[in-house]
Amino acid sequence: MSPTARVLVVDDDEFGTAAADVVLGLLPADEPRLGIATGGTPMPLYAELARRAQRGEIDLSAAYLIALDEYVGLGAQDCLSYSAYVHTHVAVPLGIAADNVLVPDGLAPDPNAEAEAYEQRIDDLGGVDVQIAGIGSNGHLAFNEPGSPLDSTTRVVALSGQTRSDNARFFDSRSEVPHDAITQGLATICRARAVVLLARGPEKAAALAAALAGPVSTEVPASVLQRHPAVTVIADRSAATELPDRLETRARNRL
Ligand code: GLP
Repeated sequence: MSPTARVLVVDDDEFGTAAADVVLGLLPADEPRLGIATGGTPMPLYAELARRAQRGEIDLSAAYLIALDEYVGLGAQDCLSYSAYVHTHVAVPLGIAADNVLVPDGLAPDPNAEAEAYEQRIDDLGGVDVQIAGIGSNGHLAFNEPGSPLDSTTRVVALSGQTRSDNARFFDSRSEVPHDAITQGLATICRARAVVLLARGPEKAAALAAALAGPVSTEVPASVLQRHPAVTVIADRSAATELPDRLETRARNRL
């Protein structure tokens, strides 16, 4: 792991507050650009940000939200799209206007052109200040599946069988899970100024350990974060069980 990485291991009931503290501590005050991961893992973080906004403790209404990925074939009106997720769980509760929300268009007639344009849109905005990321049980980062080039940029990818099975819980059946997605690439993600990697649950333990303590390898896409100079990892205890002692010890000493 990069010498500047921090690893914070927390109880599940403090996950949201710990993650919110870290993210808010890293965000610049002026027009922050927050990279949004979807999925179940960051939900306690988004709920905590919403609570703080509702109590008037924070104001992120001028923030930009930049999604990591989107399913090909699902549009913003589809409640299972990542666009709907970002609006429902983050933009609306934080009072962020739709114009400030970037998500690849899953219904674009030319998904490859949309992927290229999305990469450009992120650059035009000045990049991401803080990227929230989760990790797949197979080590994927966003929808960069095992085998993804470490220097990849935003593109159309085919989802692995493992990922489609993992994500089937959000759909009526596995057959409804799209086969393709538009995802920021590993190089795109690594251009964020800071990355906050979140992991919850025992099914993430092996992937998290491989990503943080194994070799940097295309087979474990999240391992690319070892090359990033400003990564904070927040894991609940069940996701941290396979981390080598040296990582957790450093965390306890530093945080
Ligand atoms: C999904 C998303 C990722 C997410 C990961 C883990 O497929 N594309 O961005 O981080 O897989 O999801 P979850 O948090 O639901 O386990």
